[in-house]
Amino acid sequence: MTITIMPVTPGFAAEIADVDVARPLAAADAAAIMQAFADYAVLIFPEQILTQEQQLRFAEYFGPLEHNLLGYNPDAEFRVNPALVDISNLTPGNEIWSADSRMRQFYLGNQMWHTDSSFKYLPARASMLYAHSVAPIGGHTEFADMRAAYDSLPIAVQHRIAGLVAMHALAYSRAKSGFTAFTEAERKHLPPVPQMLVRTVPESGRQSLYIAAHIGAIVDMETEAAMALVEELMAHATQRQFLYVHRWRVRDLVLWDNRCTMHRGTHYDDLRYVREMHRATVADVANTCEQAGMGAAPASVAARS
Ligand code: OGA
Ligand code: MN
Repeated sequence: MTITIMPVTPGFAAEIADVDVARPLAAADAAAIMQAFADYAVLIFPEQILTQEQQLRFAEYFGPLEHNLLGYNPDAEFRVNPALVDISNLTPGNEIWSADSRMRQFYLGNQMWHTDSSFKYLPARASMLYAHSVAPIGGHTEFADMRAAYDSLPIAVQHRIAGLVAMHALAYSRAKSGFTAFTEAERKHLPPVPQMLVRTVPESGRQSLYIAAHIGAIVDMETEAAMALVEELMAHATQRQFLYVHRWRVRDLVLWDNRCTMHRGTHYDDLRYVREMHRATVADVANTCEQAGMGAAPASVAARS
């Protein structure tokens, strides 16, 4: 039997059944999943039973894995396979983190609209989050369809933003959520990087807004005007008609296309409930400016990236 696809929204999110992603995929199933990934942008695979290794193997169908952000820090302590991102409120000793822990302040940033790793020169193509423990209330993940958001922009705005390049940095978004405790090494490792404000997803040919809380500037634009524009686009793109809200069940695997979606976690009582998710992240093929044929980056920012 081949996979079954059940749309949750007309063109954005779909549930997938009749496939066990823990095992190597039949060629027809792999092809059908790739097609669904292009047609939709968020795929939900309920009731998957996955080891950390199996989750990583499934992610590799979508491309090479991205390196974990903590990988460059020799002092980082890992609770899970370091090829995965530990999206949980647990310490390396498996205790719920404390109110003033650094990880907690850092992860609060995931509650702002973003797309994964746009602050890296080579951003993330896809992410897949697997739920080991969920909070009984709260702790949902909201997704916004950035292709639909782009399509519904007034033509004048589409013209105004065509070809613009934004600067993304983790320090920009974390400053907005109140986290400024970056070490010198972290700052050096993650300088602002250029990304197109509008990009085309090759498999579908659809144009998409590529914005995130990580944006702190637009090339060749006054900061104030740039941030007002980004805020206007954010407000537009996160209207209800563009959203899918995922309410987690244990053993859900949710896969999304970072090239044409934003997402954010909703609040939950993280000092009371354990919420444990593991994220596998697949790297994109090139920086978005390179993909748009602009070369490495606009000359005015090449020196910084
Ligand atoms: C992520 C993320 C939000 C959430 O895993 O990349 O932003 O709901 N997660 O945990
Ligand atoms: Mn994220």
